[in-house]
Amino acid sequence: MTKSVIAGLPAQLDNSKLRALIDCAKTLTAEQLLWSSGYLAGMASGSAGAPTGSSAGQVVILYASQTGNGVGVSKKLQQALAQAGIGAEVFNALDYRKAQLKKAAAVLIVASTHGEGDVPDTAQEFAEFLNSNKAKVLKSLQYSVLALGDSSYSHYCQVGRDFDARLAELGAQEIVPRQECDVDYAADAATWIEQVTNALQQTLETTSSAPVVVSLAGGNDYSRGQPWQAEVLVNQVITGRGSSKQTRHLELSLEESGMEFLPGDSIGVLTPNPVELVDEILATLKLDPQAQVPGASGESVTVRDALIKDYEIVPIARPVIQNYVAIQPNDQLIELLEDDHKQELTDWLYSRDLLDLLVEQPLAGLTAEQLVGLLRPIQPRLYSIASSQLANSDEVHLTVATVEYEARGRQRSGVATGWIANHVVEGETLGIYRHENPLFRLPEDSQQPVIMIGPGTGVAPFRAFLEEREAQGAEGRNWLFFGDRNFTTDFLYQREWQAHLASDLLTRIDLAFSRDQAERIYVQQRMLEQSHEFYRWLEEGACVYVCGDATRMASDVHAALLEIIQKEGGLSAESAADYVSLMQRERRYQRDVY
Ligand SMILES: Cc1cc2nc3c(=O)[nH]c(=O)nc-3n(C[C@H](O)[C@H](O)[C@H](O)COP(=O)(O)OP(=O)(O)OC[C@H]3O[C@@H](n4cnc5c(N)ncnc54)[C@H](O)[C@@H]3O)c2cc1C
Ligand SMILES: Cc1cc2nc3c(=O)[nH]c(=O)nc-3n(C[C@H](O)[C@H](O)[C@H](O)COP(=O)(O)O)c2cc1C
Repeated sequence: MTKSVIAGLPAQLDNSKLRALIDCAKTLTAEQLLWSSGYLAGMASGSAGAPTGSSAGQVVILYASQTGNGVGVSKKLQQALAQAGIGAEVFNALDYRKAQLKKAAAVLIVASTHGEGDVPDTAQEFAEFLNSNKAKVLKSLQYSVLALGDSSYSHYCQVGRDFDARLAELGAQEIVPRQECDVDYAADAATWIEQVTNALQQTLETTSSAPVVVSLAGGNDYSRGQPWQAEVLVNQVITGRGSSKQTRHLELSLEESGMEFLPGDSIGVLTPNPVELVDEILATLKLDPQAQVPGASGESVTVRDALIKDYEIVPIARPVIQNYVAIQPNDQLIELLEDDHKQELTDWLYSRDLLDLLVEQPLAGLTAEQLVGLLRPIQPRLYSIASSQLANSDEVHLTVATVEYEARGRQRSGVATGWIANHVVEGETLGIYRHENPLFRLPEDSQQPVIMIGPGTGVAPFRAFLEEREAQGAEGRNWLFFGDRNFTTDFLYQREWQAHLASDLLTRIDLAFSRDQAERIYVQQRMLEQSHEFYRWLEEGACVYVCGDATRMASDVHAALLEIIQKEGGLSAESAADYVSLMQRERRYQRDVY
């Protein structure tokens, strides 16, 4: 490393300064390095003043994140503060020593909501602490909250709202009002970062007062706005003939993209809406398909193109209903929007798309411009990466279950999975970008055993994990729990697991095919059947990973894990919960569920 640094050495930096810099850098953590890079860049551009925060009390950035968005936003915030001459440390809420909260000068919280209004796994202890009597009055603490969420969920941004309310209740001083961010969070998050940075520049009296400008559209990285057009090398059904569902294996070329990823990351896929659905919407409203409307980025496009490429028409989210009743009051919809009807609204929206709304609750005289004004921008869909770049450097693989269902007499396909199943031909391209998730990672110590629980498409990241472990020559043992409906048709990647068993890469596999016998059997039953061995692995330091269905599987597997620890460790329910909390702090229990 030293050599390559010296090769590009500017004349001003002599060897002794370089040596001092390298020696200092070696002692820093990844987060400290990041802060330093921002600070030095700020100094170079003349905008950084003396760093503050340590003497006047620390500026703390806390993220409560599950799928990684909050981590990226927190790092951007840290860089912006560094440019303004404000030193701040970024903490995963899991690692933050809560007692320090009262010593901090300011706490900036980036919190997402998961499940149905739930706190991310890594922030549960922090949330419990904040809501307990142990959290003392925090009058000298300044704070602000960025709440990440998705308005298609009824408990929109709930965790950010709750943190905000509790900090205010404890007497902390809000420096910038809570910013709620919907799925397209980049612009709102950037605005919040600028506001927070500028507010702290005032209150901490830094020597720099130059306003900071932030962009979350990450430099040269591919993003939802700027995807890589990946050639589709393979798009193949991997469920057998006669299966009750269809799952596909995709291989996409990354050649010349420069895109890098790690197992545990996902790929964002951008596809258009179904053309037939768009045409039916336009016919129902008797709108001219060529009418001009503002596209998602403000330019003028035909309403047909806008509905195909720019706006979300499946599923529909709460703000669409709010916009709808603002144009024409509608008693049924207004009732569904009331706070005590959240579950009814979720159920009502679940199987409905924009066409259902327009047919069931007609809105007379809706113009093309009003129509697109109702809608959120179209959203990419995420798919767990199913390959390792160490094993396939120029490719990324995905495992995609096709969504198909019938509702109110109409056969429907998922927007992305329907497109992949019906329109994506090998040799053509698909718009993709990397969605980083640093919260779902293999252990750094390759000797550590790994237990992977991934029924259905939840198995995808574990295919990547095993490829990575093999390519690294990792010696740690690997145990996979897989399940699906039927052995003969739904045993995804069966031959690969068998080959991995034969080569000893996979130490053991336990299978649960739910519909091969009278009573349903799921992976959590298999865990319980193996509870003695499972606990032995835990005691030997195994990391447990769970991926797949969030609605039932994740909570059932969590309950099974607690039961195993209680039974085999002879512990009370409370001690078993503490055991799992410790596993989380040690990064030995990670979940990526959807
Ligand atoms: C971090 C993450 C990782 C993921 N990884 C994977 C993965 O590896 N593989 C994978 O296949 N998926 C994965 N997903 C899910 C994926 O992102 C999409 O949500 C999924 O493929 C559906 O997208 P779609 O566009 O095809 O369906 P959409 O067009 O979004 O339709 C889905 C909607 O249709 C409705 N609906 C669906 N089924 C029914 C039904 N039976 N009855 C009535 N209404 C119904 C619901 O409103 C539902 O919200 C992941 C999600 C996340 C967040
Ligand atoms: C399984 C799942 C459940 C979610 N539940 C909610 C919810 O109840 N309320 C909400 O506002 N957002 C919800 N979201 C959206 C996330 O909060 C949003 O994607 C956020 O940007 C994620 O940030 P993170 O990556 O930092 O965790 C959910 C997302 C997923 C994948």
